[in-house]
Amino acid sequence: MDLKDSIRVIPDFPQPGISFKDITTLLKDGEMYRRAINELKDLVAHMKIDVIAGPEARGFVIGAPLAYALGVGFVPIRKSGKLPYETIEVGYDLEYGNDRLAVHTDAIKPGQNVLIADDLLATGGTISTSVSLVEQLGGKVVGAAFLIELVQLAGRNKLPEVEIVSLLTYE
Ligand code: PRP
Repeated sequence: MDLKDSIRVIPDFPQPGISFKDITTLLKDGEMYRRAINELKDLVAHMKIDVIAGPEARGFVIGAPLAYALGVGFVPIRKSGKLPYETIEVGYDLEYGNDRLAVHTDAIKPGQNVLIADDLLATGGTISTSVSLVEQLGGKVVGAAFLIELVQLAGRNKLPEVEIVSLLTYE
């Protein structure tokens, strides 16, 4: 089976006009999940990575296993109000709605090479916010890895200086 075939597309969710890429159908299939993570690992193999940062919530299910596979640490970037220690926060707009993301102030050491990982690149708002948080802590973003990229939304154009890799693309 093709990796892409394991992703379910739901029209008009969560609102009319949005074609939602439902990765739960991939995640519940152990063979597909492992294949996705292994292929992402190959895509980032040339990058020098000290730690992976992933935004809540779906960034966790891609970023954490990728970090484990690479033998590096994982830093959760969370929605506002969830992290218990001292944080910095940045507000952002989504394809639908808006939110604030936060990270612990001691999550990344100055000079560390950080890969940002998430399930999906849409408008690029989440990744831009994640880059901003990492850079505010003195981290160096060496790349961003996605399971899915929605090409028409041109999210990668928001960050021309970041090397962006994605496993699957949709028009
Ligand atoms: C989704 C997705 C990405 C982001 C992509 O997360 O998991 O993180 O949107 O969109 P963008 O490129 O336009 O920013 P969402 O904020 O829906 O949160 P969730 O993972 O908690 O469902």
